[in-house]
Amino acid sequence: MGTQGGTALISTTAEWRALKEHFANEIDKTHLRDLIADAKRCEELVIESDGVYCDFARQRVTHDTMTKLYDLARAAGVKEKINAMFNGEAINSTENRAVLHVATRAPKDKVINVDGKNVVPDVHDVLDKIKDFSERVRNGEWVGETGKPLKDVVAIGIGGSFLGPLFVHTSLRTNPEAADEARGRQLRFLANVDPVDVARSLNGLDPETTLVIVVSKTFTTAETMLNARTVRAWIRASLGEAAVSKHMVAISTNLKLVEEFGIDPDNAFAFWDWVGGRYSVCSAVGMLPLSLQYGYDTMEQFLKGAWSMDQHFANAPFEKNLPLTLGMLSVWNVSFLDCPARAILPYTQALAKLAPHIQQVAMESNGKGVAIDGTPLDYETGEIDFGEPGTNGQHSFYQLIHQGRTIPCDFIGIIKSQQSVYLKGEIVSNHDELMCNFFAQADALAVGKSAIELRAESCPDALIPHKTFTGNRPSLSILLPELNAYTTGQLLSLYEHRVATQGFVWGLNSFDQWGVELGKVLASRVRTSMNSKRTKGEIMTPGDGFNPSTTALLNRYLAGKAK
Ligand code: F6P
Repeated sequence: MGTQGGTALISTTAEWRALKEHFANEIDKTHLRDLIADAKRCEELVIESDGVYCDFARQRVTHDTMTKLYDLARAAGVKEKINAMFNGEAINSTENRAVLHVATRAPKDKVINVDGKNVVPDVHDVLDKIKDFSERVRNGEWVGETGKPLKDVVAIGIGGSFLGPLFVHTSLRTNPEAADEARGRQLRFLANVDPVDVARSLNGLDPETTLVIVVSKTFTTAETMLNARTVRAWIRASLGEAAVSKHMVAISTNLKLVEEFGIDPDNAFAFWDWVGGRYSVCSAVGMLPLSLQYGYDTMEQFLKGAWSMDQHFANAPFEKNLPLTLGMLSVWNVSFLDCPARAILPYTQALAKLAPHIQQVAMESNGKGVAIDGTPLDYETGEIDFGEPGTNGQHSFYQLIHQGRTIPCDFIGIIKSQQSVYLKGEIVSNHDELMCNFFAQADALAVGKSAIELRAESCPDALIPHKTFTGNRPSLSILLPELNAYTTGQLLSLYEHRVATQGFVWGLNSFDQWGVELGKVLASRVRTSMNSKRTKGEIMTPGDGFNPSTTALLNRYLAGKAK
């Protein structure tokens, strides 16, 4: 069991079994309360890379656990897989593609070959085009149909063509230097095909001063293309047919479809099939809209930050490798501690869109049921990612994390806030208040509170069970010196490579997403039937091929619309 084509699942290795035994015989009998009292251990369980400081002393691990986890990484061939990724091998085997989002942030002099061709010059050609175009739009040289500068941008795209850019935009908009660059400009996103999102994204915008970017790797995604046609109609209705070439540009790997849509190929910004959608924010997908908003120089820093973490991931030894270590800790939590989820808890509002972005990066990548060779997996993979900035989350779902399910938490704190508020007479500034919670929550989860402590505090007996916290709940704490374009790039790359490490160990393909297809096919069947029934004024019948529940739901919907 567990093999196909000669490849054994990682769960059949001695290293995996050793970790299972280690958990049962040792870790299951330890408590974080005791583990974090050990100064030497705390000192050991810290890794820093280029200013990104991560303390994982609140994970349920010892020195021995870490050794065994790194042994597991070796058994899984993680180093070889990292090399294969950076060397442009087609490690996304189900789509026969290289996985080279790292090339989108490579410096000009780097050589990264795909099928014998160095792709870095192509990357920099597109970056040069983005720099030139964004500067011309920003300085008013590129104007709209009526001669007015284009100060507002609507980026239409969904999934990876939306979530990464939104995360970076949210991270930068309150950074004073970036905000300075963005003065007088607006960047909006239109992702959902919901007419409410169309209305929201266009509300108050004037087509005369608006630039629309259609962002789609495939240029076939139904929702994006419908939204693109809707917004094109909005431009045409106001400014005429010819205005499209001045007000609409595209980002895609499918330049043929871009042209067929009616966008001038000169106004198309390419990327390549070796950049996965959810890994595409460093390509034109993020670089164009964000350079228009914050200036190319700001965004160049973002690429540099991501590249710094890429280099660290590719070169640091396992024991000092931050993304790899965090990936191994996630494997530990999911596969050995049976934790189903992970909470991403940034203590800054500017990272409010980190969790939604990582949700796609991690869950679309590692939510798989089979190994890379098709063998059904006999262990769980991936985790349910969710999160909110602290302290908001504390007043929402932390109760469950403290007393309900065990959910490993990533606490992310910023040493120097983007903003400063210090009300005279207060003990601490707003940011210090926020960060006090950052430090306190991690310890509350680890240590908990015992009945003995409660009694010593004269807690009424009846309340003791309710106020007792078992503790022993894992978390890790990441501290960034500040939040700017560079550190946002580092954070992005950290999470991307952590997810890749997990996938490498679980032996699956983290770079395809076949699970998304089934729903798309069914939606297309519904679309065809709905259109035909509405045109003929008919209702759905059992003969239309939908189950009784869907037939009834569709009929209720169609009847309600007809009223
Ligand atoms: O949801 C599936 C998916 O293929 C994602 O992986 C991708 O990010 C998204 O759709 C959008 O695809 P596209 O950029 O081709 O429009």
